[in-house]
Amino acid sequence: MGDLAGITEKLDYVQETGFNGFWVTPFYPSPWKDGGYDISNYTDVDPRFGTLQDFDEMVKTAHSRNLKVFIDLVPNHSSDQHPWFQQSRASDPQYADYYVWRDEIPNNWQAHFPIWERDEATGGFIHKPRSAWTFDHQRNAYRLNSFSPEQPDLNWENPQVRKEFADIMRFWLERGVDGFRVDVVDHIGKHPDLLDEDPNPHYVSGQGWPRDALLNRNSCNYPSAVTYIKEMADVLAEYEARDGRPRTIVAEAHVPMEDYANYWIGNRVMPFNFQSVYERPWNARSYQKTYEDYHNLVPLGAMPTHVLGNHDEPRLVDRIMAATHTSPREARRAARSLAMVQMTLPGITYTYMGDELGAQNAEIPEHKINDSYLRRDPQRATMPWRTGPTGGFTTAKEGWLPPIPFGSYTSIRAQQSNKSSHLAYYRKLLSLRASHSALSRAGVFIPMTAYYRGDRPHKDILVFGRATCQNETVTIMNFSKEDREVRLERNIGDSLLLLSGLDQKLEIHPKRPDTVRLKGFQSAIIQTK
Ligand code: NOJ
Repeated sequence: MGDLAGITEKLDYVQETGFNGFWVTPFYPSPWKDGGYDISNYTDVDPRFGTLQDFDEMVKTAHSRNLKVFIDLVPNHSSDQHPWFQQSRASDPQYADYYVWRDEIPNNWQAHFPIWERDEATGGFIHKPRSAWTFDHQRNAYRLNSFSPEQPDLNWENPQVRKEFADIMRFWLERGVDGFRVDVVDHIGKHPDLLDEDPNPHYVSGQGWPRDALLNRNSCNYPSAVTYIKEMADVLAEYEARDGRPRTIVAEAHVPMEDYANYWIGNRVMPFNFQSVYERPWNARSYQKTYEDYHNLVPLGAMPTHVLGNHDEPRLVDRIMAATHTSPREARRAARSLAMVQMTLPGITYTYMGDELGAQNAEIPEHKINDSYLRRDPQRATMPWRTGPTGGFTTAKEGWLPPIPFGSYTSIRAQQSNKSSHLAYYRKLLSLRASHSALSRAGVFIPMTAYYRGDRPHKDILVFGRATCQNETVTIMNFSKEDREVRLERNIGDSLLLLSGLDQKLEIHPKRPDTVRLKGFQSAIIQTK
């Protein structure tokens, strides 16, 4: 367990919970300087995680259960241990131009991973900017590394590099994958003259990461990124043409929301929508506006996406606790409701493993920290299959990280047998999403203005609908921890409650069927008559 065979073993859980597929973060041979995102061989399995046969078995089992398999493709950088880089730094003519080399530091670009220093006064850490250029003694030149110094950036302007990646994709497509999650794909497009970045006028010193002090418009998200992704989409098309089975890419591009539009390529490539994982004011107005703005920019026929969490961000429950100053218990209620909102919006919702259990960040003892660059270990704690020190994640005495803390919600096994657990709720939500026609691809999105009397979004109550010709659902959520009453544009007195975020009834005013009262953080999805 904790390896590919372990995934295969747990696919019944993935299927029973109601997910349609999964994405596996890098399992390739890697010195593991960045959680496997520093790859030293793109076409093999690291022995720690198994073998190519284990991989094939995982794909076969997943497909037999109707689950799609996506794997991480990391095109912007390899490990400095990759043979390409070893040849490149040795100036081997075939590989010399595989990476981005300059004799002098050409610009002010900064790496994403800052330098951490202990602050003697507070005992905490301070982050200092790290240049994106590292001197390489062997080649006697500077090489670009947008992340850590052990992850040199590949030179995507070199057609040979692009060919290598097309072949890597083919290697895994031949083994049956349904597509790729493409890591920081906006970074493969860089200004050809490597121009300096302008300062960010909105940067507040000490907030965010040091790199946020720059606007970062030349080191990433340059239009050539989209040209190169189109080439990747063409590789998917080759396979789709063979058997008609769709293959897709979900692109990781941390770009301004308006730029998402560039990263939908037909129905083969879609960008992750990260708006809900970024720090933002916790109120209905802000979320409602973002969802509606987002909806308006999705091209016709393209697939919208929603992300609730991932291995890079603090756990959803922790983010809500920080934003609402509430206890884990209350934050977990809000997390359920937010999941209902995202799961009933049009599109695909990505759930980070464990969020379906209401997972919180784990406390990681200093000696167990793996991610020396960004310390993202707390959100990477392992699945708590059952109680015990390793949570049944491994048969070893200790796992690579501790399991997700049990807290009040105990293990998966315990949640499976408790009808009001977070997991039980997720199962109901996913099953509703899969079975109700208004929530299917055919169900159009109906914005707030159809339901709510005010002309601006309500501060605390978010509302939207989905409809086909046959029926209509309305999702409503109270972002406040206090109870709230709202008067809608329509009578909903005789509607059918499909699911409530807190297993509580939706209170409709006895005399005014257009007025609804929601408990603190409550959400509901109803079917109107
Ligand atoms: C995004 C991945 O999600 C993150 O974990 C990684 O550190 C960076 N890309 C660099 O590959």
